[in-house]
Amino acid sequence: MDDRILILDYGSQFTQHIARRIRELRVYCEIHPPTASAEWVRQWRPRGIVLSGGPASVYDEGVPRLPPGLLEVGVPVLGVCYGMQLMAQQRGGRVVPGRREYGRAEIQVRGTGELFFGFESGEHITVWASHGDHVDEPPAGFELLASTADLPVAAFASAADRLYGVQFHPEVAHTPRGTEIWANFVLRICGCEPTWTPGSFIEESVARIRAQAGSQQVICGLSGGVDSSVAAALVHRAVGDQLTCIFVDTGLLRKGERESVERAFRRELGSRLVVVDASAQFLDRLAGVEEPEEKRRRIGASFIRVFEQSVQDAGSGASFLVQGTLYPDVIESQSVRGPSAVIKTHHNVGGLPEDMKFRLIEPLRELFKDEVRHVGRELGLSEELVGRHPFPGPGLAIRVLGDVTRERLDLLRDADAIYLEEIRAAGLYDDIWQAFAVLLPVRSVGVMGDARTYENVVALRAVTSRDGMTADWYPFPHEVLGRISNRIINEVAGVNRVVYDVSSKPPATIEWE
Ligand code: XMP
Repeated sequence: MDDRILILDYGSQFTQHIARRIRELRVYCEIHPPTASAEWVRQWRPRGIVLSGGPASVYDEGVPRLPPGLLEVGVPVLGVCYGMQLMAQQRGGRVVPGRREYGRAEIQVRGTGELFFGFESGEHITVWASHGDHVDEPPAGFELLASTADLPVAAFASAADRLYGVQFHPEVAHTPRGTEIWANFVLRICGCEPTWTPGSFIEESVARIRAQAGSQQVICGLSGGVDSSVAAALVHRAVGDQLTCIFVDTGLLRKGERESVERAFRRELGSRLVVVDASAQFLDRLAGVEEPEEKRRRIGASFIRVFEQSVQDAGSGASFLVQGTLYPDVIESQSVRGPSAVIKTHHNVGGLPEDMKFRLIEPLRELFKDEVRHVGRELGLSEELVGRHPFPGPGLAIRVLGDVTRERLDLLRDADAIYLEEIRAAGLYDDIWQAFAVLLPVRSVGVMGDARTYENVVALRAVTSRDGMTADWYPFPHEVLGRISNRIINEVAGVNRVVYDVSSKPPATIEWE
């Protein structure tokens, strides 16, 4: 196993960013809840440990603490915000409650040491701060590394004990030189070798999947998205003909998607493919359901039932099911294991029924989206498959807001197809991380010819992002937006208004439900 870093998650919205920054340095890392014991940590054998930030105060009751003995495990530890405060408190430093600071701040580097290697002493740098309490005095034996007028201890270190703390968030883009700080910690202080690559990932996964599946049959649900295609290609490499792929037409797909997936799949993956039309069943289960999480649960449950039936019909007797679950899904759904708040239950993690007959193979469980794309390319998949915008498992059901009916799905499909067609025609598809239309559950008044109309509103969403965890709305040229809006209103019967979504994530999410 390569060198790896353990991240203990104290519930910060930025914990996943820490993992991203470390993976970008080509070092493997995992996020775990802080309930892990020091003994477990020792056995996990990290080269270093990061304590994330979190919303708690060290002065509150029942808040997550440092596992006893953690700071003595013998590997370097970096505490970020709340993680730093826990470290300071345990080592006898002073943590002052209150005085919220949120946003950009400027700190002055005081001592450089290993953590600020490459920085000048006295230099001012911009950082992103988000904390309530703060450390006022470093513990005995700790050196002050940075401070601001408001924040006397912005960073500290005990080189002898290899303990480090920063009161700001070097993992977010708003700390422009944060990457250097991560590189200093991970590569310099922990001494990790940057060897974690798609190639090494593929080798390890293939071996693991073979060991897991043995000579048993495996099925994979293809959604047409990047994740399930890459998962299928990886499993196909591991178990060859033991794999049967099943593509379920849920009735919640985009226009022409079933045909295009079939074409691309047959051309590139080459394993057995069964296509099942289950749209009636899915729409039945969704009738009258408006609540997004309930939609996800029902879709997840229907998926599995359809699979079980299809597998029986195909007579393959599979005992394993491949899922294209990604790391952000795992973390966002792991309410019971860690304190990071559950935002949405992604169906491929949270919605599976407990009495499911399959055992799961989730070969991408540890990867972020851009890493999946690298793996896909390395496996020889075309840019057409690998470069596709992500598409959520529950499909258009979470883009027809409120009640999902066949009519509303058809209307959305038509609007969405025009939207994507125009984006491609303008040569913008690859600049955008994800673009889609949303059908709102409201009607608006319009005028067409001389007549009043009272019809549907379509919202357009387009975002840029690296991994879906944060996103910015895409600044379309006005004439492109104008063309899209004209075409949708003129060509899609039942739509008289188009609006463009200008919300970033956070605080919005990418999907509307
Ligand atoms: P949000 O809306 O959470 O979306 O900002 C982040 C990314 O995840 C996709 N998404 C899902 N994918 N099942 C999935 O497989 C889901 O239930 C689901 N919900 C959101 C979303 O399209 C975006 O790429």
